[in-house]
Amino acid sequence: MYVLGVETSCDETSVSVVKDGKEVLSNVVLSQIDIHKEYGGVVPEIASREHVKGVTYVFDKAIKEAQIKYQDLDLIAVTKGPGLIGSLLIGVNAAKVISLNYDIPIVGVHHIAGHIYANNIDNTMEFPLLALVVSGGHTELILMKEHYDFFKLGETQDDAVGEAYDKVARVLGLPYPGGPVVDNMANKGKDTLNFPRPMIDSGDYNFSFSGLKSHVINTHHNMVQRKEEINIENFCASFQEAVTDVLVHKTIMAKNEYNIKQIIVAGGVAANSGLRRKMIDKIKDVPIYFPNMAYCTDNAAMIATAGYFQYLKGFKTDDLYLNGQSRLNMEE
Ligand code: KG4
Ligand code: ZN
Repeated sequence: MYVLGVETSCDETSVSVVKDGKEVLSNVVLSQIDIHKEYGGVVPEIASREHVKGVTYVFDKAIKEAQIKYQDLDLIAVTKGPGLIGSLLIGVNAAKVISLNYDIPIVGVHHIAGHIYANNIDNTMEFPLLALVVSGGHTELILMKEHYDFFKLGETQDDAVGEAYDKVARVLGLPYPGGPVVDNMANKGKDTLNFPRPMIDSGDYNFSFSGLKSHVINTHHNMVQRKEEINIENFCASFQEAVTDVLVHKTIMAKNEYNIKQIIVAGGVAANSGLRRKMIDKIKDVPIYFPNMAYCTDNAAMIATAGYFQYLKGFKTDDLYLNGQSRLNMEE
């Protein structure tokens, strides 16, 4: 089954062709990072316009690279939410045009389901599994008993972990997106500041990163006022240690409570080297999988893969009334 995936929920215009929920025949990602960098974050209106500019080119390139024709497609899977509404609408409408023109069924996919299914590309998901979802907009622990069955064990009560990375980077004067830069700096430093580990002993599966973010920002501010020398590498290492301690601790708690076959990590922050190391180091009794770097941040291959399993599960397909939704609950 050839599935065309379409992802435009934020600042990447991406289209991909995936065969049978696994074999990536093409995955074209047109990133807008260089444009948004100038503003220190994604500007929604600019993002929509850039999607409009790039979308036709990205569609045709993905089809060409996969060496197929639009007529050969069996299914179209497009991110319907959550995300920036203007951005989502570009992908959803382009996908509907192809669906209508070639009479191909279409399914709207939840963006986070896509991040989770990125783990089926280079590995094979086995159930029950525990998914730690860590991205710019999400931080949650999800239990899956079978394909396309998502039960949220807990989630962030405020900021997402990627968002905290980006804010901390901004305070330190590092470029957007901050996650990879802070990660890189952290690898060269040591945890000298011992920042708080928020909610580590809360006994549930929820997270909170806004207090830690403020604490880190205040610490930086005070150090600047006192004209103390700031070792950015140690500063980043201290932040990363605090964040990853909490993420790994809660993942272990959930692993111990539920009888699971594997742990998967999903979303942009799954690219984090400190998180990868700590997870592998601390969890030995259950296999842990991370998507390849190319499938950690936003891409359409993950949406095609998720769409394939959503379709196989027998969920209703969508029609031309399919719309983007800026907020969307995955469990529904
Ligand atoms: O999943 P994603 O591409 O977009 C959302 O759906 O949110 O995630 C983007 C987020 C950004 O906050 C970025 O800073 C973060 O993932 N990120 C990282 C790393 N690479 C990307 N955070 C920490 N360490 C990294 N290596
Ligand atoms: Zn994402």
